[in-house]
Amino acid sequence: MTSHSGKVVLVTGAGRGIGQAIADAHAAAGASVAYLDHDPALAAAAAEAARARGATTLAVSADVADEASVKAAVARIVDTLGPIGVLINNAGISPKSGADGKRAKLGEMSAEEWRRVLDVNLTGAFLCASAVVPAMRVAGRGSIVSVSSVAGKTYCDIVGVHYAATKAALIGFTKHLAGELGPDGITVNAVAPGRIDTPLMRGTAPEANEAARMATPLRRLGSPEDVAQTCLFLTSDNAAFVTGQVCDVAGGWLMT
Ligand SMILES: NC(=O)c1ccc[n+]([C@@H]2O[C@H](COP(=O)([O-])OP(=O)(O)OC[C@H]3O[C@@H](n4cnc5c(N)ncnc54)[C@H](O)[C@@H]3O)[C@@H](O)[C@H]2O)c1
Repeated sequence: MTSHSGKVVLVTGAGRGIGQAIADAHAAAGASVAYLDHDPALAAAAAEAARARGATTLAVSADVADEASVKAAVARIVDTLGPIGVLINNAGISPKSGADGKRAKLGEMSAEEWRRVLDVNLTGAFLCASAVVPAMRVAGRGSIVSVSSVAGKTYCDIVGVHYAATKAALIGFTKHLAGELGPDGITVNAVAPGRIDTPLMRGTAPEANEAARMATPLRRLGSPEDVAQTCLFLTSDNAAFVTGQVCDVAGGWLMT
């Protein structure tokens, strides 16, 4: 018996990076895990790799920004794995569409790009929570963890204002829902990673990553597993009395 056996877990953006590590950690802890990603090949490969290690997994292709896509994905997961007890809102984008090929600054950013980042990073969390919470209410238990960012708490010069705004909004989303869903036995928390070494970060200049490392008391970038283990705690029975919290996973970069 492992900490998460019997739980059905949905992780969005689970095809690679932090989402894959979160999904893998839950699978290794005995959960049945739906690996949802809008890239079907990434979802399939990640779910298959975990299955080869003995886990029960399902690859699901969906765009979290699209309501019909999310509803269809959740219906398939429930049919195949059972009612979802844990939702991890991880899928997120951070476009590098600026004139210099880095983050777009105000004036360079189109309204279309602004809306897409809000749709994926914020509305995606709303749509997924809306799809899974009714069954959690019936069960009288459940947990939701959203992946925010230190960039939602303070200025971070490698992301755009759209990204920062969504990550700050996820914190309000988390605290509000913790209050609203607490009486139903559902915990709602967020993690705020600092600089984590993932494909999303590979385009960042080495000097910028080195500066981030030196600004981090623990003197390294984070790993996807660092974030995954914190999520695993927050969705475990050990965190049953923890809700409405934002847990930084940032090596001490920002201490608030
Ligand atoms: N890497 C970091 O330093 C860092 C720091 C703080 C927060 N985060 C957050 O962590 C999360 C994961 O980041 P990452 O670095 O692993 O990114 P990543 O780009 O490596 O992986 C993101 C995954 O999400 C999927 N995805 C993107 N849009 C989607 C959509 N509309 N629907 C479904 N899936 C979609 C992608 O296909 C990809 O597999 C994001 O929310 C990101 O903002 C990352």
